[in-house]
Amino acid sequence: MSRTIAVIGGTGAEGMGLALRWARAGETIVIGSRDAARAERAAEAIRQRVGAHAQITGMENSKACAASELLVLTVPFDGQAALLKQLKTALRPGSTLIDATVPLAASVGGRPSRTLGVWQGSAAQQTAELVPNGVSVAAAFHNVSADLLNSDADVECDVIVCSDDPRAAEVAMELVVKIPRLRAIDGGKLENARIVEQITALLIGLNIRHKGHGGVRITGLPESAYRVGSAAE
Ligand SMILES: NC(=O)c1ccc[n+]([C@@H]2O[C@H](COP(=O)([O-])OP(=O)(O)OC[C@H]3O[C@@H](n4cnc5c(N)ncnc54)[C@H](OP(=O)(O)O)[C@@H]3O)[C@@H](O)[C@H]2O)c1
Repeated sequence: MSRTIAVIGGTGAEGMGLALRWARAGETIVIGSRDAARAERAAEAIRQRVGAHAQITGMENSKACAASELLVLTVPFDGQAALLKQLKTALRPGSTLIDATVPLAASVGGRPSRTLGVWQGSAAQQTAELVPNGVSVAAAFHNVSADLLNSDADVECDVIVCSDDPRAAEVAMELVVKIPRLRAIDGGKLENARIVEQITALLIGLNIRHKGHGGVRITGLPESAYRVGSAAE
């Protein structure tokens, strides 16, 4: 499938890690940033790791939105709403936006193992409220450690994908299984993102307590519930 994945806020740990893994899988990536030069530096850093064949560039966020109909949002919660409002005219109807934002209290100076209450129910639902009509939102990747994504190790984690649009959920699950050892699970409606986002805070607490990079594995579902990529077989 020929597509470009624009990672908005892609200069940070989570966005860089996802971009690295997708670039390795042969996807075409645009790193988005508030600063075009920073985006280009991040793209170059990934090219250095993946090789000259990597299809990756860096652009200011609104240009990155204009360059793709498949967007992944990886910004701290405190910047999420303002950024989406700013990007409203750049987001094209028909686009899919996959939101990995976790409303961590740390984004407003609180503890990283606590979350903030979000009026809409979750960061992903806030995103869905702020994007223009015709942009579909899926929530995914909240529980995947950026440290592991940025390493060369396999990432042992299930990604629970939540969306009110089955097409957006499908696109998100396709991206999940591009990353070796990740499995995608359809987590139902977007409102379930509230629960998945909370799990990240729990994982951060466990990581602090046990000094690790925890992920989640859901057991006991029929095989058909787990989407795996060819790299995982
Ligand atoms: N880190 C993890 O392990 C992890 C795992 C799962 C989910 N998440 C979630 O993914 C999101 C990104 O995490 P991260 O660790 O990558 O965060 P981060 O490194 O702190 O920030 C990511 C990028 O967002 C941009 N940004 C920062 N503040 C902004 C603001 N006020 N407005 C607009 N853009 C802003 C910055 O890019 P520019 O300055 O270049 O614009 C930054 O490089 C968060 O919501 C986090 O909870 C993180």
